[in-house]
Amino acid sequence: MRKRVKTLAMSLVLTFAVATPQGKASAQGILPKPQSYAPAKGTFHTRGRQVRVENRVGDIARNIYSEPWMAVSKGGARQVMIFDRLSPKSIAGLTLKDGAEAEAYQLHVSPDTILIRAASADGFRLAWATVRQLTTKKGVACCDVVDAPAYKWRSMMLDVSRHFRSIEFLKRQIDAMARYKFNRLHLHLTDAAGWRIEIKRYPRLTNLAAWRPYATWQEWTDNGGKYVEEGTPGAYGGYYTQDQLRELVSYAADRGITIVPEIEMPGHSEEVLAAYPELSCSHEPYKDSDMCPGSVATYDFMENVLLEVMDIFPSEYIHVGGDEAVMKAWDNCLLCQRMMKELHTDKAGLQAHLITHFGNFLNAHGRRLVGWDEVIASRLAPNTTVMVWRETDLARKAIEHGYDVVLSPGDYCYIDRYQDAPITQPTAMGGYLTLKKMYDYVPGDDLTADERRHITGLQANLWAEYIPSDEQMEYMFWPRAMAIAEIGWNGAEKKDYADFHRRALAECDTVRAMGIHAFDLRHEIGERKESFTPVKHKARGCRVTYNTPLHPKYTAGGEQALVDGVRGGWTYADKRWQGFTGTEGWCLDVTIDMGSIQKLHEVSAVFMQSLGPWIYYPTKYRVSLSEDGKTFTQVYSQDQPQRDPCRVGYRTQAWHGSRKARYVRVQGSCDTEFGWLFTDEIVVR
Ligand code: ACM
Ligand code: ZN
Repeated sequence: MRKRVKTLAMSLVLTFAVATPQGKASAQGILPKPQSYAPAKGTFHTRGRQVRVENRVGDIARNIYSEPWMAVSKGGARQVMIFDRLSPKSIAGLTLKDGAEAEAYQLHVSPDTILIRAASADGFRLAWATVRQLTTKKGVACCDVVDAPAYKWRSMMLDVSRHFRSIEFLKRQIDAMARYKFNRLHLHLTDAAGWRIEIKRYPRLTNLAAWRPYATWQEWTDNGGKYVEEGTPGAYGGYYTQDQLRELVSYAADRGITIVPEIEMPGHSEEVLAAYPELSCSHEPYKDSDMCPGSVATYDFMENVLLEVMDIFPSEYIHVGGDEAVMKAWDNCLLCQRMMKELHTDKAGLQAHLITHFGNFLNAHGRRLVGWDEVIASRLAPNTTVMVWRETDLARKAIEHGYDVVLSPGDYCYIDRYQDAPITQPTAMGGYLTLKKMYDYVPGDDLTADERRHITGLQANLWAEYIPSDEQMEYMFWPRAMAIAEIGWNGAEKKDYADFHRRALAECDTVRAMGIHAFDLRHEIGERKESFTPVKHKARGCRVTYNTPLHPKYTAGGEQALVDGVRGGWTYADKRWQGFTGTEGWCLDVTIDMGSIQKLHEVSAVFMQSLGPWIYYPTKYRVSLSEDGKTFTQVYSQDQPQRDPCRVGYRTQAWHGSRKARYVRVQGSCDTEFGWLFTDEIVVR
């Protein structure tokens, strides 16, 4: 037994000794925070020491990462490291959540003993992640830890379609994710911008649909979104061979991480339809975005693809996407129409039929379906997991259907949004999602305790439309992934952001030492400073008449919000900006009644631009004044038919002058089909 442990330890030294640097760990610095941690005096010294390893559990410790000081097990050493079996019943004082047994562990470190008790290889590996964080140059800090996860699905999603990522990049993230006790990596392998997985039966997916003539997603979409043959000079893209993916799966598994592959259907499939146009309703490339769910060819194709996918990925769950199908081409497709008639259903029902088919197909092959929350409409087996990315109310709906839920709501988990003052950051999707906002997320806070039992996990998503490089991807990923790690492991009951922030700062140094380009949390600027201080002005509390409607989703708390003295932050999503839309005439048109005729010197308003969510500065802007509310005199006008090239910005439009008036009218126009206009406090002085 001892010999086996020694051999094992030595081979692991070769494999893993450089995988994670020893940071300046402090006993108080574990991230994610353990459920129970009691520091003790002293250190289990490792420098130049002989440590006897006693494995009382046999094979179960096989995947433990090792350290050079563990390689000696001759006996006679004063210090001992013991691996022992934990029966979940014996875990002191900790109530385990359903399914948490395998990942639970107990750890005791005293100056001469490290005792790790766990019920499975996963438990030992996770205990070892804690030991690593307790390790300083001297040794392992003494303590007692009793620990188990709050959620059994702790995951990050990487979009490798919009911009292709190297295998080395993926391995770096896996190394760091293992340190923070993640257990799944979801790879978004297919989307319009490129198919990234070799499928031997369908070579056009990778010798055409993985390549494009423009390196950035933005240039590519601006220039028609076409693909080019592999090998075309200047072609951008790439794909993972099946051998590369198998090796990656094994690399991740050694670190306790299951890779969940996502193969999108039926929407987000432009690249598939360019390579195999017969799978679209029109049978023409570059016309439709969804596969034809009325055609048997689609089912054959996807089954064949999934067979190869399942052969590469042992994951119990296979993600089939299911989100955002446009369904437009289905209206005029004879096959789609025929199938809807046969099934007595509509387009949503047709999509549900397709997803149900693939749920059954995966089940028949011993796998389970996971999909975005659009799959709720399907008739799937109760072993399905739904990833809720839109309104959290959909979690309740999924649970009513008997499905498990992984929460991934945009407002808290979409890390393609800006993590700091947008004007200081590389281009992102828009929004403003700080480490703190993610940390403050309480999963399922609107659900009952019974419903919450179906929340099996938490995931953050990194969509990559605006992320051309590995470095920028890491910048968006870290440290925000740590917030998901913390909630996913420790739960959301005992929040203390100051403590988490302190630990995250130290861990940023550690991930940097691992070669990761993390965001500079130490120099975070934070929220828009104007939003902290109420602004005093003459129109505060005055009556506002909306000559065109305010969008009901973006009222900022009601009509009065435009003159309440409270200014918005960096994002419209903070519910402090009012939103207007509509291409006809003025989309913003309000009149403020000042109550009496007064001498006015200034009327100003701030507008936001954020190109990701189609928010633009007004193309036309007017301020008019009136004494009687009937006859208005225009005092300020500005026309800007050209869009500002900057992606995100905040612009003040102000009239300055001197006039008597009681009524102030402010007008702005949108002038694009999808466009939005967001404004905040209208200040009158
Ligand atoms: C999604 O963001 N469309 C899942
Ligand atoms: Zn069709």
